Amino acid sequence: MSEEDRQRWNTRYREQAGPSGPSGFLQSLVGQLPSTGRALEVAGGLGHDARWLARRGLDVTLVDVSDVALERAAAAAREEGVALRTQRVDVETEPLPPGPYALVVCLNFLWRPLFAAFPKVLAPGGLLVFAQPTRSNLQRHPHPSARFLLEDGELPRLLQELEPVSYTEGWTEEGRHEARLVATLPGLTALAR
Ligand SMILES: C[S@@+](CC[C@H](N)C(=O)[O-])C[C@H]1O[C@@H](n2cnc3c(N)ncnc32)[C@H](O)[C@@H]1O
Repeated sequence: MSEEDRQRWNTRYREQAGPSGPSGFLQSLVGQLPSTGRALEVAGGLGHDARWLARRGLDVTLVDVSDVALERAAAAAREEGVALRTQRVDVETEPLPPGPYALVVCLNFLWRPLFAAFPKVLAPGGLLVFAQPTRSNLQRHPHPSARFLLEDGELPRLLQELEPVSYTEGWTEEGRHEARLVATLPGLTALAR
């Protein structure tokens, strides 16, 4: 990503109030998610999901390209008294922080080569939680624009070494057309949920 694009995200995050709580999709998975061990949130912005995971007991690393978002996430975590690691990473050009992670979360961010990187940082038996709008979302919303959208039906084909645990695609309660996936890295270790 260019420095100009990074600054664009920074400007947005200087102005944006941010969501009041964690993603409804992530919360809906609460019974399936690990509550101990290490977790990674990729392109997690202001860290509303990362902080929720940290409050549940996970040792969470939040990565994003925006230092403004990461500073705000770290400040919010300090205020709440939760531990949160933050790391500025441009996932288009830099590797993910090394695992193994019991959980990797990536919501509302699409960089297809990450699907080769996720298995390298997940622990055997670890979970990937991923959600992104698909092209059908354009029927109701001009944004995100087409270059940021999954094709309808595309997500399962991106999985490589990961095995789907659950997959849905359709209009969500929030009115977006979204592909939602939970996948696991096959392995012997059954992680405590
Ligand atoms: C649409 S926001 C989603 C934020 C958060 N995951 C959420 O669901 O609210 C996309 C995020 O991706 C980050 N981002 C964009 N390009 C990136 C890159 N190349 N590497 C890391 N983060 C990036 C942005 O800074 C922003 O926080």
